[in-house]
Amino acid sequence: MTGERAAISIRGRPRGRALLNQRGQRRWEFNPLVRSRVRADDEVVNTPTTATARARGIANFEARGPLSAQLLSALSLSPEEGSEALDSFPSEIDEAIASASSVMTDDDLQLTLFILYGLHYGGVVDADDRWEWNPTTIAARVAIETAFERELRAAVTLPELPVPDAEAVAQALFELTADDGGPSLSKFIAAKASREQLVELVAQRSIYTLKEADPHSWAIPRLGGRAKVAMVEIQADEYGGGRPERMHATIFARMMRAMGLDDTYGSYVDNVPALTIASFTMMSMFGLNRRLRGAITGHLAAFEMTSSIPSGLYARGLRRLGYGDDVTHYYDEHVEADAVHEQIAARDLAGGLAESEPQLLADIMFGAAACLLMDGLVGQHIFTAWSEGRSSLRLPLEGTDV
Ligand SMILES: [Fe+2]
Ligand SMILES: [Fe+2]
Repeated sequence: MTGERAAISIRGRPRGRALLNQRGQRRWEFNPLVRSRVRADDEVVNTPTTATARARGIANFEARGPLSAQLLSALSLSPEEGSEALDSFPSEIDEAIASASSVMTDDDLQLTLFILYGLHYGGVVDADDRWEWNPTTIAARVAIETAFERELRAAVTLPELPVPDAEAVAQALFELTADDGGPSLSKFIAAKASREQLVELVAQRSIYTLKEADPHSWAIPRLGGRAKVAMVEIQADEYGGGRPERMHATIFARMMRAMGLDDTYGSYVDNVPALTIASFTMMSMFGLNRRLRGAITGHLAAFEMTSSIPSGLYARGLRRLGYGDDVTHYYDEHVEADAVHEQIAARDLAGGLAESEPQLLADIMFGAAACLLMDGLVGQHIFTAWSEGRSSLRLPLEGTDV
């Protein structure tokens, strides 16, 4: 942040001069001197209008309710100026959590958590960097995380715990991640999905995959010995093994461009449902909390153990529809890479951590089961929508070259 700020525009009530956004819609530029609280029916947009924001490739996305609107408004200001705008934020978060039927599927809570994690990742909102460790934004993050974690722990069924040795833990993880025989999104993609559906899928996946590996990398300094070495070995591959053009996130971005999609991070936040955001916020929560290092380890293990075969099916579906190697490269790469990663992740990473810190065994299995639960819910959401002839997206994609 260099002193320039993103303009926050508010539709609903005139508070400043009118301007047109990039979609040609009339909006109102927020006047930060007007201190009145943002109402639920205002539309607040994260609109990067400064040269700095554009150079950083920060995308537009819209608030989904009073919490995300209030947060985006405050983040357009310095922490000194914006803190006042967040006076009622803690109590409003508590109220939203109390009234939400599910934190996992609540649009406003999930987008708010996504923005708060964005302060740690960077590249999500054009905010003063000092907001990252602002007491109010941290407290908000912890409040939503606490409710989200409670909900996840209630939803996940833990398997019987193995003894804490590497081989037994690996075996338990392989059993847990074995195909449950339910409807398979990847088989549908290989055999039947349309071009439009595959473009939609890649837009859904972009919320995590353009930041592939980053949520798990938060855990590296929180591990030690064999588990740390295993995590670094996997992540080194994810980050291209010394070659920037081979970073998995970079290969994914190339695939997006080749499919006519915008590879700016967050371009499709508006389009995806809360559940898709939740799959990313969940792993960010596991990675960013040292006490959850068991969960992020189990999550990565399950993620790697359920990737190789579906990746081959995704690549087959893309080829069936006429896409070339520039598009299939990402999934081709994961067929081989994740067949190796799953072995390291199960034995050395998860198994190694269980041996050195046996008290984390339950959380290792929790993280793995939570990964499967979330993947299952997202997959089921997409599969059900497509089976009923609907899009799985919250808003349709605009201007894609399908
Ligand atoms: Fe990868
Ligand atoms: Fe991998």
